[in-house]
Amino acid sequence: MAETRESLRQLIRTKLRGAKFVAVSNREPYLHVYRNGKVEWVRPASGMTAALDPVMQASRGLWVAHGSGEADAEASDSDGFVAVPPDHPTYHLKRVWLSKQQEEGYYYGFANAAMWPLCHIAYRPPVFRLEQWSAYQEVNRLFAESVAKEIGEKPALVFVQDYHFALLPSMLRALCPQAILAHFWHIPWPNPEIFRICPWKHQILEGLLGNDILGFHTRYHCDNFIATVDRELEARPDRERSAIVYGGHMTKVRSFPISIDFEDVSRHAASQESLKLMAVLRRKFRIRKDTIVGVGADRLDYTKGLPERIEALGHLFERYPEYRGRVVFIQAGVPSRTQVKEYRRLNEQIDSGVAALNWKYGRHDWQPFIFLREHVPFPTLLALYRMAHFAVVSSLHDGMNLVAKEFAAAQIDANGVLVLSPFTGAARELTDALIVNPYSTHELAERIRDAIEMDPVEIRRRMGRLRAQVRENNIYKWASDIIKKLSKLT
Ligand code: F6P
Repeated sequence: MAETRESLRQLIRTKLRGAKFVAVSNREPYLHVYRNGKVEWVRPASGMTAALDPVMQASRGLWVAHGSGEADAEASDSDGFVAVPPDHPTYHLKRVWLSKQQEEGYYYGFANAAMWPLCHIAYRPPVFRLEQWSAYQEVNRLFAESVAKEIGEKPALVFVQDYHFALLPSMLRALCPQAILAHFWHIPWPNPEIFRICPWKHQILEGLLGNDILGFHTRYHCDNFIATVDRELEARPDRERSAIVYGGHMTKVRSFPISIDFEDVSRHAASQESLKLMAVLRRKFRIRKDTIVGVGADRLDYTKGLPERIEALGHLFERYPEYRGRVVFIQAGVPSRTQVKEYRRLNEQIDSGVAALNWKYGRHDWQPFIFLREHVPFPTLLALYRMAHFAVVSSLHDGMNLVAKEFAAAQIDANGVLVLSPFTGAARELTDALIVNPYSTHELAERIRDAIEMDPVEIRRRMGRLRAQVRENNIYKWASDIIKKLSKLT
């Protein structure tokens, strides 16, 4: 029996025995914005928040995050608290306010210009600046103090997310020694050879070793972490137990592949609303009954392999002219981190790639590539997934990639094919996808062709297995596995 929101709720009730459950992340699950002079709420484009929100709803705990919406302050009380989800509240969000300078140094700076390229092997050199490192330290302390204020001396279980808060665990351990700390690192962990260039590598590792449990998506990233600590610190790695003892404290290092709420996504994809949205999309993009639709959905990030995807489509139309006029690729792309130079450069590269592709192969009645540079609402995205014959996830490096899992969950008719990069965590589980190296754009074009030409029986067989995989290993299983491990420490 697959885990459900209800089974997770029961587990939390029995295992946490009244301890406070606090999640900490940079990105908040709900943002408040101004629309036509009114305060409205939106969800961010983040696989992490989409995955954690149902877990928080089941736990009814507290989520501490950066209040980044323009109307956040107006929608929260004087301490930054707001009940969420805004339409049917089940837990509380505590917003932490950052100055522009802190946001620039900590988020755009150290987190996304140093740690992000350091951990992703996408061949963008990390930028290490002392003032950004100082802002990162300052913001980690600010969050640690904010969490400590909520838990005091009470028993608590704190669940930290991601590379924005590598220092927070050891800071929080000093402030609240009774708290049990778990940390999930949503992105890859590089090998020691790569990590060693970070000027503040020791502080980062020491910060993370404040955790009781440190989770990664894959075993491979756990091994990389243990090897990095072994090389850099006077610590005692215990490979047998997959743990590290440092300063008398033990941190268990485990893999927990994150996932999605399969039933929720399937149900929405099967709704009447989804059917209506499919009809709207067909009209809007002039998609005929016999048009073959491909889909992609990504934050506009250089790790996602978008230029490679566009180049591969160029090869496809060049080598197989019979697809001209018949295949349309719809790409949803959410602008992201545009204050960082590499991201602005990527946007220019994508724009020129799309323009060149559509200019070379497009006709008055057909454009091969439809680029939606916007945050496509989730119901529309599900309708897109459902009408697609194939989806392409061509990440150059990705901790997990939840788009791959969402596509499978939305394929309620099981008539689509997933083309997937082997450099995603998802590829370890979704072995019925067509796996292809995105750096080889010729091969990527061939796999897209295989997806288009695949026999319908084979499509159903593969998609059926992908769906069963995601249904079984859903987000509630991810959270339950972590809570079970943690409860052994309480
Ligand atoms: O999963 C990695 C991650 O950085 C999350 O922490 C984050 O919410 C998501 O990607 C989107 O990035 P950002 O929050 O910087 O927009």
